[in-house]
Amino acid sequence: MKAVITSTAKYLPESILSNRDLENILDTNDEWIRTRTGIRERRILKDPEKATSYLCTEVAQQILEKRGISAAEIDLIIVATMTPDMIFPSTACLVQKDIQAMNAWAFDLSGACSGFLYALNTGAQFITAGTHKKVLVIGGEKMSAIMDYTDRSTSVLFGDGAAGVLLEPGKDDSHGLIDARLYSDGRGGDNLCMPGGGSLRPTTHETVDRKLHYLQQDGRQVFKSAVVGMADVAAEVMNRNHLTSEDIDFLIPHQANHRIIQATAERMGIDMEKVAINIDRYGNTSAATIPICIAELDEEGKLQTGNNLILVSFGAGYTWGGIYLNWL
Ligand code: COA
Repeated sequence: MKAVITSTAKYLPESILSNRDLENILDTNDEWIRTRTGIRERRILKDPEKATSYLCTEVAQQILEKRGISAAEIDLIIVATMTPDMIFPSTACLVQKDIQAMNAWAFDLSGACSGFLYALNTGAQFITAGTHKKVLVIGGEKMSAIMDYTDRSTSVLFGDGAAGVLLEPGKDDSHGLIDARLYSDGRGGDNLCMPGGGSLRPTTHETVDRKLHYLQQDGRQVFKSAVVGMADVAAEVMNRNHLTSEDIDFLIPHQANHRIIQATAERMGIDMEKVAINIDRYGNTSAATIPICIAELDEEGKLQTGNNLILVSFGAGYTWGGIYLNWL
């Protein structure tokens, strides 16, 4: 039994942080950011009382409404995030409480920018096993909470947002999640991390003074690995499933850099018209980029029954992967 996506939703906070706004606080400029990354603006959750669980709850509520089901019907909630409200309890448990899904168990999945693909494949296993009927899979991030807005090399890249899907058993085996290839390589860990706040470096005056509670990245190293990782896994998923570029209706790549997306599409021989892109409007929302793209395509009525979708991602860990979906 395959897991099919029966509903989608996204939530982006209203407040816009444009490249021009960043020019006022950093030694950067709109032209550099657009040509190097493809980003024009990103959304920021400004309310200090709200965090990732708020974004994910908005998504979960929309999904329940769209599907016309009650929260009590949800069996499992998985939230992919690297910016949980707290280290514990999990953000997924906070969402479970907020939507009152009292029959669901809930957990967070830490896969950084590949978190949604990891979570989607994980959720699908419970459907395929026949033990769960309705699984909510959400990717959500308040990246602004871990940005150093004095560091131009990282803070221009990321934004806040969330999106998700409802997984249910398909009626036959032709639609749904067909194949997944997921990878990790911990040797890349130091190139993209938040060093402080965990059990290795608990919060102290010193960790705060040394800015260890912000995202740190060696952009050039990550760029090189991401280009190879995303293109390789996309090609692998195509080959394993005997797909040519003509067979693919949409490529839905993680939105970290327009140049990485282009290189992946080129390697797959796919026209840019078939590539979902919203990095210009939202920046890199980490685990939320791919489900935001899916929700946008769905809202615009572009996804038709039988469409072949390839999802690909790369992120901290390193983590990367590709998923082949046939749309219900
Ligand atoms: N505005 C203006 N100049 C900037 C800048 C900014 N926001 N950020 C960096 N620069 C400068 C650098 O200081 C450097 O100057 P120098 O040559 O005088 O030292 C120059 O621009 C080039 O920096 P570099 O880091 O080599 O640029 P790049 O072409 O590699 O682009 C990234 C930087 C971050 C956009 C790019 O490396 C990238 O996208 N990496 C992958 C990011 C990613 O995918 N992360 C998430 C994981 S999926």
